[in-house]
Amino acid sequence: DAGNSVVIEERLEGQELSVLALVDGRTISVLDPAQDHKPVGEGDTGPNTGGMGAYCPTPLATEDVMGKVQRDVLVPIVDALRREGTEFRGVLYAGLMLTPAGPKVLEFNVRFGDPECQPLMTRLRGDLLEILWQTAQGNLDDVEFDFDPRTACTVVMCAEGYPGAYRKGMEISGLSEAGALEGVVVFQAGTKRTENGQTVTNGGRVLGVTALGEDLRIARDRANEACRLIEFEGAFYRHDIGERVLAPA
Ligand code: GLY
Repeated sequence: DAGNSVVIEERLEGQELSVLALVDGRTISVLDPAQDHKPVGEGDTGPNTGGMGAYCPTPLATEDVMGKVQRDVLVPIVDALRREGTEFRGVLYAGLMLTPAGPKVLEFNVRFGDPECQPLMTRLRGDLLEILWQTAQGNLDDVEFDFDPRTACTVVMCAEGYPGAYRKGMEISGLSEAGALEGVVVFQAGTKRTENGQTVTNGGRVLGVTALGEDLRIARDRANEACRLIEFEGAFYRHDIGERVLAPA
């Protein structure tokens, strides 16, 4: 029922950018920005989903853009929260639209994004548990980590019908073959293992097939190649993750 009434404030046009930051109450450590792809269909068509794929880093996050995001978005919200008595510690996710008038906030989340987290974690060089623990303790200055300079691209394999009604329980094959490809990690999301050890679908967004590459095109090609090795009835995915950056209109 929450969606029965809609307030339209402003139409924003541009590319979406997800900026995730670790915040320990005061210190903000901005993680490499990613770009999500919400529409279900190739060429950004069809209804919105939770995310059909993401890549990281993205050339959309120029020094100028990130300077504005830090100054106009992240610092003010963390300061405002502290002033209101909430010393926020954790992952702050700013979903932004890069408009001609500058970056505009679409949403805040207090968690990692899905699928943005998958390319980000594939590139992380450091001990995630230690990083998150020190963040929670307010000691972000004490942790050291950086990111693999290569690009990671995640392609989400979905069940037929998603984001509408979909069936569950389809047998998934090819996971080991895909995971054995160079630089490929297959994250399982909407899956479950049956009593006889078979992995089956158990959600709409089933797998986050992720690949590292020297650049976005190589990473995406590898992720798509890995997807071709994985089969379940009705499986579909977008082949064009990152296309708006690779071949701008
Ligand atoms: N990818 C969007 C979200 O995690 O909210």
